[in-house]
Amino acid sequence: MTRAAIVGATGYSGAELCALLARHHHVEIVSLFSSGGKDARAVRFARLHPLLGGSTGPDAEPFSLERLKATRPDVVFLATPNETSAELAPKILESGAKVIDISGAFRLREAAAYPKWYGFEHPAPWLLAEAVYGLTEWCGGELSGARLVANPGCYSTSILLALKPVLPLLAKGQAVICDSVSGVSGAGKKSDVAYSFSEVEGNFKAYGVGVHRHEPEMRQDLGLSADAPFVFVPHLLPTVRGILSTLHVSFAQPQTPNVLAAAYEKPYAATPFVRVRAAGELPELRDVVGTPRAEIGFALLPGGRRGVLVSVIDNLLKGAASSAVQNMNRVFGHPETEGLA
Ligand SMILES: NC(=O)c1ccc[n+]([C@@H]2O[C@H](COP(=O)([O-])OP(=O)(O)OC[C@H]3O[C@@H](n4cnc5c(N)ncnc54)[C@H](OP(=O)(O)O)[C@@H]3O)[C@@H](O)[C@H]2O)c1
Repeated sequence: MTRAAIVGATGYSGAELCALLARHHHVEIVSLFSSGGKDARAVRFARLHPLLGGSTGPDAEPFSLERLKATRPDVVFLATPNETSAELAPKILESGAKVIDISGAFRLREAAAYPKWYGFEHPAPWLLAEAVYGLTEWCGGELSGARLVANPGCYSTSILLALKPVLPLLAKGQAVICDSVSGVSGAGKKSDVAYSFSEVEGNFKAYGVGVHRHEPEMRQDLGLSADAPFVFVPHLLPTVRGILSTLHVSFAQPQTPNVLAAAYEKPYAATPFVRVRAAGELPELRDVVGTPRAEIGFALLPGGRRGVLVSVIDNLLKGAASSAVQNMNRVFGHPETEGLA
């Protein structure tokens, strides 16, 4: 059994992690934590997630590093704010446990990028080269036995899964335009008037253009410089969960549906959690919300030089908790679908 702890178990993604790990046959949940400090509160296990109603497990307690270590986890999931993950990960690694971080604290290779994109100096820059960027379907053996996994951002997961297979076919110098929409849970449970019911319901807006934190990790993963023509426009959708990304691309040569289908078939033929639709069949949010899957569709425009790719995920699952469990399965050599299928 793999002994697992979750810091941030009382948050949206942490609660999903609890529900997934509770039914994992090779995992024992040894400890769960909310935030520390005077406002922190204990939460009973059964109250963390609706699916845990009748189950038993450790209650979430206010965070303490000593208490975490005392529970002797093999792996600690960090479902915490970026700066908290950056501070905690080196201390946890020192204790001998592995870390799967779903924040952005270890996604960027360059420590110098953190003040600009995340607003803090990175406290553990020596770990950035070691962290495995865990876009599971595009990882090889590097996840096996890894000490530190940086789970990709939710928008990044939806965009990279759709874009990477067709990247070699794209026209150089032509912009890739990614319009993504996310449900409000993407912002976590923190209270902010911008995410309140009366601001969001019946409304729809773009935000964070050119300054969203997921942009540099996507450029890094795609090997694009800071001024390469890649446009990412996130939008806030008045629903609770789900991300739909629509990518507008230009091909170097006119393409056929068969060539695009073959480009997707190659990386995803045997992947349990990425489904690619037939040409022209575009997935919708309801196809994936509540599941650990990504679904991808594509359509060619007349002439075959331009295409539209559509990718959908549940931001709290494939965009966070289920991909973290998929990564843990790879790290510890458990079947990839365990706890998820
Ligand atoms: N939401 C998404 O769709 C999504 C997707 C991918 C990645 N992420 C990333 O995952 C992380 C968690 O996101 P979330 O949306 O689940 O956040 P959230 O709902 O706001 O929950 C944050 C969790 O972190 C705990 N926490 C806050 N400060 C802490 C501290 N100093 N020490 C220990 N625990 C602390 C909170 O405890 P209390 O309950 O006591 O406040 C809560 O359990 C973030 O870095 C986020 O960027 C989120």
